[in-house]
Amino acid sequence: MVTQVLKRPQPWTPARQADAVLSILRGEATVEEVAGAHGLDPGEVEGWRARFLEAGAAALAGAPPRAAGAMRGDRRVCRDVTEAVGRTPLVRLNRVVEGFPGEVWAKLEFMNPMGSVKDRLGKHLVERAAADGRLAPGGTLVEASSGNTAMGLGMMAVLRGYRCKVAVRDRTSKEKVDALRAIGVEVEVVDGALPPDHPESYARVIERIVRETPGAYFPDQHNNRENNEAHYLTTGPELWEQMDGEVDYFVAGMGTGGTISGVARYLKERDPRVKVIAVDPVGSVFAEYFRTRRLGAPAPYLVEGLGDDSLCACVEWDLIDDVFTVRDRDAFQGARDLARDDAILAGGSSGAALWGVRELIRRLDGFPARIATLFPDGAGRYMSKVFNDDWLATRGLL
Ligand SMILES: Cc1ncc(COP(=O)(O)O)c(C=O)c1O
Repeated sequence: MVTQVLKRPQPWTPARQADAVLSILRGEATVEEVAGAHGLDPGEVEGWRARFLEAGAAALAGAPPRAAGAMRGDRRVCRDVTEAVGRTPLVRLNRVVEGFPGEVWAKLEFMNPMGSVKDRLGKHLVERAAADGRLAPGGTLVEASSGNTAMGLGMMAVLRGYRCKVAVRDRTSKEKVDALRAIGVEVEVVDGALPPDHPESYARVIERIVRETPGAYFPDQHNNRENNEAHYLTTGPELWEQMDGEVDYFVAGMGTGGTISGVARYLKERDPRVKVIAVDPVGSVFAEYFRTRRLGAPAPYLVEGLGDDSLCACVEWDLIDDVFTVRDRDAFQGARDLARDDAILAGGSSGAALWGVRELIRRLDGFPARIATLFPDGAGRYMSKVFNDDWLATRGLL
């Protein structure tokens, strides 16, 4: 499927104006040259230059950068870690997309307190269920997770007085399982190669735990649209605001589909021209389903958190414009490039998202789009895998 390229002029956001002014201050271009290159009035560019110089001088003179009230909000003082969930930084990618004439911005979700985008989910699902009585005081949270949702739920269990039991597939990293046990989550590791209808499969083990646990609440992150809602209410609006309302593409991995669907819905409501591209690993059934509406045979793969061997109800296919298929090797190389080139310590699914961005850039063929992406978790969870040369070499991935 060919991705449609948006042909609209790039807006002069404050960030782009600042870039242009910096190039003038560094002597790389004159006001006239910048204006001429972009078809602008030189007076307008001169105005930006004057404004930025004044702002810089005011900062040097010790003038308060913002109103006092705004400063208080920026201090981010939290009564517990749940209040530190969300409002993650958006960081521009530089060397990893060198030569691209547009802009790529990544939302660093590993800066959530438990280290992943799924903290948003843990908080939202538990607060919702506690509010309407599906989750009783002192109940037990039960979930099937690649590890990160389990951490988000575990955070809520510690702080709100619940137990938490989860099933993870055996491809989940040791670091994640150790972190889960460190916060008191009870973890059952399941053979991920078993087909969904096998009695010991991921899906069946969860059914058993729910059946056997009194007071169990199973949020069912794969099929519960409250998952998407968490991102529609928080991740999407944050991204929109941080991008100054100018997004051409959003590129993200898809596991349950909650992140990409929730963010896509919000962005497309604000601007229907936004295109959304999902990244799916070779071996997952999602990409083929998107292209043919048929379910192919799943195959094993190593990247954690993305794809699946069966469909789930949180993926909102009508919000997704294209699906790119990523190999483990490219996802892992992407994560290593992020660390080495832009000092961003992100996990394998972030590497997959970066690969998707690079593939999009290739297809854009010089068009200077504004691309947003999202990095779900951090490199620390994969030191024994993605960042371990021996582990990669043994699997022929180095
Ligand atoms: C590391 C990682 N990346 C990406 C995802 C995908 O996010 P979503 O389930 O919202 O599609 C997950 C989900 O578990 C994950 O753990």
